[in-house]
Amino acid sequence: MKLLSLAALAVSAVTYALAQEVKITQPADNSLVAGGKVITVEVAYTSTPSTPVTEVAVVIGFNPCFSDHPLSCPAVEPYGIGKILYNGPFHPPLQDISVAIPEELGPAVLSVTHFAFTGTANFPYVQNKNITIYVE
Ligand SMILES: *[C@@H]1O[C@H](CO)[C@@H](O)[C@H](O)[C@H]1NC(C)=O
Repeated sequence: MKLLSLAALAVSAVTYALAQEVKITQPADNSLVAGGKVITVEVAYTSTPSTPVTEVAVVIGFNPCFSDHPLSCPAVEPYGIGKILYNGPFHPPLQDISVAIPEELGPAVLSVTHFAFTGTANFPYVQNKNITIYVE
């Protein structure tokens, strides 16, 4: 009985956490991007949060991949998000953010990290999502 309710709690905690996720909706995954240019990155909720969310910030990171053949790119663990291109407020449900793409040619990870507090009791919340871009 107790085990069952714990399992139910774990499931609801996952559903709960997913509701506040954001992702990069522009540029598209695997896009070509001009190095040294300012581009617009659109960050958006993946769905409407079912609980109150107090936004803190989003951070856009840029980390060049190690190689192209086969493609191997740095994961957040253990490599971090790399260079920070934007660190500032997020206005849901979506926001266009201008960032300067470094002149480091080749594939790179463009990531968004979302910091917030969720629920009426304000639980700390951190979430990270990425796309791959090709800097030319
Ligand atoms: C990017 O996100 C995908 C999907 O969540 C994940 O599988 C992949 O490991 C991430 N890549 C990096 C380099 O962090």
